[in-house]
Amino acid sequence: MATRLSLYLLCHVLLTAIAAAGDGKIGICHGRVGGNLPPPEAAAALLLQNGVTRARLFLPDPPVLRAFAAAGIDLVVGVPNENLTFLAASGPDGAARWLSSAVLAHAPAERVRYLAVGNEVLYGDRFYAASIVPAKRNLHAALAGMGLDGVVRVSSAHASSVLAASYPPSAGAFDAEALPVLRPMLRFLADTGAPFMVNTYPFISYVNDPANVELAYGLFGAAAAPVQDGALVYTNLFDATVDALVAALEKEGFGGVQVAVTETGWPTAGHPAAMPENAAAYNAEIVGRAARGVGTPRRPGVPVEVFLFDMYDEDGKPGAEFERHFGIFRADGSKAYDINLA
Ligand SMILES: *[C@@H]1O[C@H](CO)[C@@H](O)[C@H](O)[C@H]1NC(C)=O
Repeated sequence: MATRLSLYLLCHVLLTAIAAAGDGKIGICHGRVGGNLPPPEAAAALLLQNGVTRARLFLPDPPVLRAFAAAGIDLVVGVPNENLTFLAASGPDGAARWLSSAVLAHAPAERVRYLAVGNEVLYGDRFYAASIVPAKRNLHAALAGMGLDGVVRVSSAHASSVLAASYPPSAGAFDAEALPVLRPMLRFLADTGAPFMVNTYPFISYVNDPANVELAYGLFGAAAAPVQDGALVYTNLFDATVDALVAALEKEGFGGVQVAVTETGWPTAGHPAAMPENAAAYNAEIVGRAARGVGTPRRPGVPVEVFLFDMYDEDGKPGAEFERHFGIFRADGSKAYDINLA
């Protein structure tokens, strides 16, 4: 009995140590499109209470930047799409002025791990597509001029529709129409050591195509039918999507570029498959994988940095009902379902 207890304690200590080693691999997106959101200081404190030290902000909103930076939270700061036209034409000096006044005046560079330049600009009307690489180059040159090259990395978050093929994962390929923008972008990411950022929602894949996407496959369910892909086996859509992206990167000659998942999550309401139990199961699996650094079948042992969407429900979001129910926390700071984020 005593032996068993001490074995248990030893395992517990080891598991805690392993979890601590993976500390901070999970971040949370903090969108603020809602009317009932707690003040940024409360949001930042809540993250720390839950052992989360990374966050993605969609906008460089000065009070939010100040509160999160003061709490010591490492940030992905979104550069809004509407600013890209200016930043593409501004040259490094104009980009430096924008960066100083919009971001670095409110959060020290040490807290800004990434600039996410534009969100999903290759999705929909692609109005900003031509600006994105020049904007990134100007921002990177501005950072280099401030001695911040390698401190703040410059990337862009993409919708997973940037892939035209993703099944099986080894057939992953970028949308040919996006390649004229993507190829110089991949060169930029490789040259500057920045990851390719992707937003991916197995929930939405399931909702859009329930006849072909098994709910259990989206939810990391043990009952999901595995997908055999050459020598590799896929048991869930998350790994399959990340590896389809990896295959697409390899096809373009950029197999060395890392992948960061800048949004993923599961809603708690607004659709029959959106419920607290499913959200808890999905997000617990994402957190566990990030903490263990297991990587994916194509890149085993290579941790994938992940940002869960979303900290709170955002009642001002447009679109389908479920879009307003991704929150992990309620406005009063309680959890919407049982989950350990640390
Ligand atoms: C760009 O960014 C700044 C600072 O965040 C903002 O004040 C400005 O209105 C933005 N929009 C455009 C179209 O430049």
